[in-house]
This record gives sequence, structure tokens and C-alpha cells, in this order.
Amino acid sequence: MFKTIEWTEDGVRMIDQTRLPAEEVYRTCRDYREVAEAIRAMVIRGAPAIGVAAGMGIALGVKDSAARTVAELRAEFETIADTISKTRPTAVNLFWAVKRMREVFEKTLAAQASETDKRAAARARLVEEAQRILAEDIAVNQAIGRHGAALLPEAGTVLTHCNAGALATGGYGTALGVIRAAVAAGKKIKVFADETRPFLQGARLTAWELAKDNIPVTLITDNMAGHFMQRGGIQAVIVGADRIAANGDVANKIGTYTLAVLAKENSIPFYVAAPLSTIDLNTSSGDEIPIEERSPREVTHWAGVPTAPEGIEARHPAFDVTPHRYVTAIITERGLARAPYTARLKALFA
Ligand code: MRU
Repeated sequence: MFKTIEWTEDGVRMIDQTRLPAEEVYRTCRDYREVAEAIRAMVIRGAPAIGVAAGMGIALGVKDSAARTVAELRAEFETIADTISKTRPTAVNLFWAVKRMREVFEKTLAAQASETDKRAAARARLVEEAQRILAEDIAVNQAIGRHGAALLPEAGTVLTHCNAGALATGGYGTALGVIRAAVAAGKKIKVFADETRPFLQGARLTAWELAKDNIPVTLITDNMAGHFMQRGGIQAVIVGADRIAANGDVANKIGTYTLAVLAKENSIPFYVAAPLSTIDLNTSSGDEIPIEERSPREVTHWAGVPTAPEGIEARHPAFDVTPHRYVTAIITERGLARAPYTARLKALFA
């Protein structure tokens, strides 16, 4: 099995998701700015994986800092955190990881007496914390899988969108983790993967990852989903999330909302699998979730080749918001949340 991201002596090593499925190559980021650029360019993507990368990027920046005083180190921490925070706005795991690293940083500084000890301890402790975020994420995904597997049919076809698999997380996956757990429990699950225009995470990443794991997968284009649902070919839809608001509204890859509406129309359950680090209780509803607008060139071109007339206007919102009324259940590491979401999601954190 591949490793999505890992901490090495040389830097932060990640599988280059822009090159899959043609090539399985790894990139080592030796500077926090390189980690930030890898997140921005989607060398690494998927909300939980972005969170892990953010943690490792901060650890790398602080480890390599030339700061001679604690004040200098603190200022540098903020520069690093700011650079990392400006990469992708929607996935809340990024900000969750930055906050967690800042808290550990401050706590570590406070626990030491001398300036030298403070700086040395902070450097070591942040590397440890980043690795902890990775290890926890894998365990969290496995727990999500255990809770979600029971929701899937004994035999049937499950539709997923984008990539919410091992590639989008520290490993195992959220939505694909639920599918993996169901398959491991002996269920006969087939997966339909939406290709996921325009970045093709479904075609390039989900299809690659599931095929590698010998889970039967059929690729469809996004606009085929309604057809298969209407003909009884889909028994459940399961997706990940980039941010879940306090009321249960779900921001996920563009096209998710369309699927949720189609699922309701066809009486198919629509599940969202996500860790607590994706739930943002400070955002009251989906209207407040910032939606990343990426380059229209990702719509008008593929691999540098134009697929539309030159100079044509195009838009590229990378995410949409599914109102909570379309969500059958949210699967987390602490169990399921169903409507009424405001109370149920809050209770998961208790
Ligand atoms: O733009 P991406 O590829 O980072 O978007 C990823 C998604 O929308 C995933 O579905 C989401 O992050 C959940 S990943 C477990």
C-alpha cells in the first residue's frame, strides 16, 4: 500500500496526486513553503490529508527556523502558519491543524524555563505532534469505517464522488474507509465512482485506489449518476466532506449537492463520512462556508490542452454545499449523527 504522506529525515514526503494514475511518484518537500505550494497545487488534497500536511509543514518550518530568541521563533511561527493557512480556504481541517499546532507550540514554550530550552523543546514537540496527527487520522478513519459499515447493504452498488479515500487522508479513507470496512466484513459491495469534473479525482484517484485494493469499481461521468439512480442501480451514496457546519450542512467537492438532490428524488440514502476535525461548530450554516474558487483554466484545459474555445469565460467553484435536509446520516469516529443535526453534532463533541 502507498503512503499518502509521511515525515522523513529529509522532509515531508507525499505521493504526487497530480501525477496519478499514470505515475506513482513521491515528492519530498524540504521547506514549509514547498508544503504550502503542494497543498495549493493539489499534490496532496482531501480535507484530512491537507490537515496532516499543514501540521507537518508547520513542524518543518519551526524545525528549520534560524530564530535566536523565543520572540523571533514566535514571529516565525505566525509567518509559517499564515503561509500554510492561505493555501485552500474550504477544508476546515487545515485550520484545525494550524490551531492544534499553535496550542502545542505555546504550551511547550510555557513548560520550559530557559530561552534555549524553549526553542529546542518547541522544535522537537511540533515534529512529534505532526506525526501524531497522522497516526490519529488513520485510527479515526478506521473507526469511521466500523461505524459506517453497518449502513451499507449486504450486497449492492454504492456511488461515491471525488476521492475520500486513503489518498485524501492519512490512510484508509473516510467514505472509502466505510466501503473498505463493509467489504472486510464480507459485504458484496461494488462502487460506482463519479469521474468528478474538472480535476478528475474520481477517475484518477478513487478508481486507482479501489482497483489497487481489488474492490470492484466502475467509472461513470458525473452526468450519468441520475440515470443509474433512476434505474435502480445505486443502493446508497457515500461521500466525504471538507467542512460540516453546526447545522449539518455539508461542503464537499463540487457536484455533491446535485447527487444529494438526485438521491432524495430516488429515495436512496445519502451518507457523509467525516472526522470530528471536519465539523466546524463555529460555522452555523453552509451559507457561511467559504467556497474556494480555483482557476477557470482547470475547466477550459486538461493537461495543458484546451477543451474549450480560447478566451471563453469559465467558472470553477471547487466545492458546493449540501443542505442538511438531504443528508441521511453523518458518520464520524464517535458514531452516527442524524437529524436534528445541530443538537446531535454538538453532542458528539461532549
Ligand atoms: O479539492 P479536493 O480534491 O481537495 O476535494 C476533496 C473532497 O472534496 C473530498 O471529498 C473531501 O476532502 C473529503 S476527503 C476524506
